[in-house]
Amino acid sequence: TLPKAVEIREVGPRDGLQNEKVFIPTDLKVQWIDLISKTGVRHVEVSSFVSPKWIPALADHNEVFEQITRDEKITYAALVPNLKGMEGAIKQKVDEVALFISASEEHNKSNVNASIDESLQNLKAVAAAANDAGIPLRGYISTVFGSPFGDEVQLQTVKRIIDAYIEMGVSEISLGDTIGVADPVQVKAILLELLTDYDRELFALHFHDTYGRALANIFAALEMGITKYDSAIGGLGGCPYAPGASGNVSTNDLVNFLHRLGVETNIDEEKLFTATQFLQQAINRQPDSKVYKVQSQ
Ligand code: HMG
Ligand code: MG
Repeated sequence: TLPKAVEIREVGPRDGLQNEKVFIPTDLKVQWIDLISKTGVRHVEVSSFVSPKWIPALADHNEVFEQITRDEKITYAALVPNLKGMEGAIKQKVDEVALFISASEEHNKSNVNASIDESLQNLKAVAAAANDAGIPLRGYISTVFGSPFGDEVQLQTVKRIIDAYIEMGVSEISLGDTIGVADPVQVKAILLELLTDYDRELFALHFHDTYGRALANIFAALEMGITKYDSAIGGLGGCPYAPGASGNVSTNDLVNFLHRLGVETNIDEEKLFTATQFLQQAINRQPDSKVYKVQSQ
């Protein structure tokens, strides 16, 4: 049997916009996030306190946090790679800090200019600062299902990062299919392995949809009892430092799929449609979502 309800994290403003080639003006980002806040979603990843040299598309993270209208039922989160980012996140009173690291040495180097060991050291300091400030922590692990650089990703490395995250006080770990190569059989096999050592409540799943397998992968994870999923409105997204990465599974398709299966999300599909129409105008192209296309007709 499937879970009765799942928790969706809207990552479009962060994972989505980080990958847009044309800078989306701050006021459009803010208006879009405010529309997202009206959909019923309880977790929104707003931006990243990363280097503007590395991710110019999110250089306005301070302004975005200053200008959005916050709903107190919603957790407004941000990615933080280092202490400098942590300072910004504290100043902007983010509700939750998301740490990130890759299980592929090659991808981690490409993404944050550090080895996995160096990153774990850095993140320890960031986590300590978040703990001192009383800010809850989430932790991403990228490339769990495959690396863009062809290096073999070891489940042992994934477990080493999970253990380190737990020690840092991370309460939720998002397993990332950064380049969208996973398949449902692999998802089940990896989860089976992880769930022998860890509580299923610890995990969220984060699927990019390169080959159109994200919903199949989510179905496999639902059958394994996982109840937390990341998605992006209009299928936006991708990591600029992972060659071949494409958009996240679209929130539109995911929510419609879950509702069809009788799984609750607390998200209103009409309000989601409105937020997606706004996005379409802002990016000036058709969003990548089958359900949105149907609803637009
Ligand atoms: P670096 O160049 O090694 O670091 O980058 P640095 O300390 O030498 O800093 C370089 C410059 O950036 C300096 O400026 C710093 O001050 C500045 P300069 O002195 O040259 O003028 N800087 C900052 N500015 C603002 N905020 C900061 C900050 N830190 C440094 N926090 C660094 C190392 C980690 C900073 C860099 O590599 C970086 O920012 N990387 C971010 C990459 C990123 O955001 N990738 C996408 C997110 S991960 C993802 O998408 C995967 C995920 O979705 C899950 C999945 O799909 O698998 C989460
Ligand atoms: Mg991602």
